[in-house]
Amino acid sequence: MQKLVIEGGHRLNGEVRISGAKNAALPIMCASILTQETLHLGNLPDMHDVATMIKLLQQMGVVVESGEQEARFNGAALNKPEAPYDMVKTMRAAILVLGPLLTRFGEARVSLPGGCAIGSRPVDLHIKGLIAMGAQIHIEHGYIHATAKRLHGARICFDLISVTGTENLMMAAVLADGVTVLENAAREPEVVDLANCLIAMGANIEGAGSDKITIVGVAKLHGASYSVMPDRIESGTFLVAAAATGGCITLTHARADTLDSVLDKLREAGATIAVSGDRIRLEMTGRPKAVNLRTAPYPAFPTDMQAQFMALNAIAEGSSIVVETIFENRFMHVQELQRLGAQIEIQGNTAVIQGCVTLDGATVMATDLRASASLVIAGMVAQGETVVDRIYHLDRGYERIEAKLSALGAKIRRIK
Ligand code: EPZ
Repeated sequence: MQKLVIEGGHRLNGEVRISGAKNAALPIMCASILTQETLHLGNLPDMHDVATMIKLLQQMGVVVESGEQEARFNGAALNKPEAPYDMVKTMRAAILVLGPLLTRFGEARVSLPGGCAIGSRPVDLHIKGLIAMGAQIHIEHGYIHATAKRLHGARICFDLISVTGTENLMMAAVLADGVTVLENAAREPEVVDLANCLIAMGANIEGAGSDKITIVGVAKLHGASYSVMPDRIESGTFLVAAAATGGCITLTHARADTLDSVLDKLREAGATIAVSGDRIRLEMTGRPKAVNLRTAPYPAFPTDMQAQFMALNAIAEGSSIVVETIFENRFMHVQELQRLGAQIEIQGNTAVIQGCVTLDGATVMATDLRASASLVIAGMVAQGETVVDRIYHLDRGYERIEAKLSALGAKIRRIK
């Protein structure tokens, strides 16, 4: 099991290049299933979940040629429409092959993802939507067995907002017969990035980014060359780390327009932020002020930034309230932050944080991707040494994070 050893008390200063977005790359790679031609993707982040998705697609018969931050996918020879449990259990986003397989091949066998650390995370809305489009679906032995002669368009209203649910059904609809309307659709930038890639492949999609997306099915999609958007959660993570350590950093290759709610909260915490083109500069002088947070679907404050901000609130001036409305168990980082001396009390989906002047280094354990980032941030501000264990969680969703942090002045190293 690999660990990160962090020596606290060093300000972050300098410039860091933001990588391609994990949560845009994952659905966009699945779009390669929808065509027999080559999909060339640029700005692909080099992280574990992307490697896992490439392996899954190759197992299905997609030919993948990987390069430096890019890859070419060709699904012409795809002959095994299956996503086995051992792949899906390590990466829930594998569910995103379901819609594309069904609409291109008329059948799919995809393992149910099962729960994960942050919640039960069912996929009932994905299944309900596909049935509305004419799929026959039955579930046995933990697998979703789906067949469809040809999916047809449908009007689908999501009971609640689902990012991958929206993405799965959008991909199913692009080759379906007729018009599909997704109501109460997710508005996340990653949904828009997927839609833009599908449109580049010849799909007919309108309304991505709003809560109503209209897809007119076409006979086939052609290949395309597409560059994945910058990762807004990696961006937010570095900005919070700089704010927590009282530093001054500039992000490059970033997209501030996908970060409004996060930048607003950082300004409320006392950071000075300047945006010019694809560069975001943050400077924090003195101790941050505590800020209240309530997670909600985009464009509101993202649940994927909740844990990182809790580390900031843990050392901020004043007390704060953090409400997690998306996942039922996304406070796993709290007990680890408490080991570092954080004063946090949980009442249901609400955490009350009393800011401390500083934290005390300790050994802590990562439990999920963003919780790991929260512990790294806390370790950088704690006095003394912090060891973060089980950092495979971190490697799933951040590209070379300790190299990027070290280049900004953090004292952080990986040990086996
Ligand atoms: C996506 O997960 C992201 N993952 C998550 O990022 C992110 O936290 C989440 O959206 C919310 O923004 C990817 O894009 C690969 P949801 P997803 O469907 O699509 C419930 C990270 O750290 N729900 O929007 O799985 C669900 O239980 C990851 O990068 C149903 O009840 O999330 C949750 O409470 C973590 N039935 C809520 O909806 C369904 O069929 C939102 O889930 C689907 C979802």
